[in-house]
Amino acid sequence: MNDQDMKIVVIGSINMDLVIMAPRLPSCGETILGTDFFTNPGGKGANQAVAAARLGANVEMIGCVGNDPFGQELIANLQNEKVGISNIKICNESPTGIAVITVDQEGQNTIVVSSGANKKVGINLLQQGEEAIKQADIVLIQLEIPLATVYEAIKLTKRYNKFVILNPAPALEIDTEILKLVDIITPNKTEGNILTNTALSLKKNEEEVIKRLLKMGVKNVVMTCGGEGVIYNDNDDIQRIPAYPVKVVDTTAAGDCFNAALAVAITEGNSLSQAVDYAQKVASFAVSHKGAQQSLPFRKQLL
Ligand code: RIB
Repeated sequence: MNDQDMKIVVIGSINMDLVIMAPRLPSCGETILGTDFFTNPGGKGANQAVAAARLGANVEMIGCVGNDPFGQELIANLQNEKVGISNIKICNESPTGIAVITVDQEGQNTIVVSSGANKKVGINLLQQGEEAIKQADIVLIQLEIPLATVYEAIKLTKRYNKFVILNPAPALEIDTEILKLVDIITPNKTEGNILTNTALSLKKNEEEVIKRLLKMGVKNVVMTCGGEGVIYNDNDDIQRIPAYPVKVVDTTAAGDCFNAALAVAITEGNSLSQAVDYAQKVASFAVSHKGAQQSLPFRKQLL
């Protein structure tokens, strides 16, 4: 298949990331001195869109930014990354979404998001983007936009019998009737626990969470466990793929990169295990580079 034949629609958030590097993450109530500061295009939706485009997919994004300089910069950035922007709305009532991120020396982070215009991604915007959804091979959705829109987006996608990947980040509970429509869900451990109301202390927690999600009606679960790798179901078998041993510089957007690569590999006709393995490789590139979109690889870099 020609790369550009793979059509992926990403419905999600677009943020400007304000990032401070620090020797460690501060404790509650503590002020610490950090080092470098930089701004970087981010947002789980936009990161996934850019990652998929860099991997060769034809990507269309549905989302909202504010009518402000950050919004203009983020749209220009998406355009520059060859992501289709005709379904991105510039909204006058809210500022562009912002994420305040701290990254420590081990590459671990904390992120606080002020959603701003991402809250305005409504059903009417989905209607505007319906043609793109109709043409898509895969629709990729996360949870940084209103939940009602996420539900409608999943229903609309399934009305056209298209494949849905739901990245349930940040963690929220999801209606079981909606979960039944999802082809692949990609929680991390925390998100998996919240989706299933599972206590973290459960023995063999991850496998239990995956089995519960399957029982709830999701077709496939791919759980990302950071440095411990990925656990997923291959029909009834639970499989584990260890993480690639790389030097972790910054984990920001690693999950986004993973989701995008998974989508790209599936649109190219790979099996789930091949797609998971590919996504692991691509995400290991992202964690060994600084920043959100800055860290996302182009297909040729992976060779
Ligand atoms: O997944 C990383 C992203 O989460 C950051 O780019 C930030 O904007 C938040 O949405």
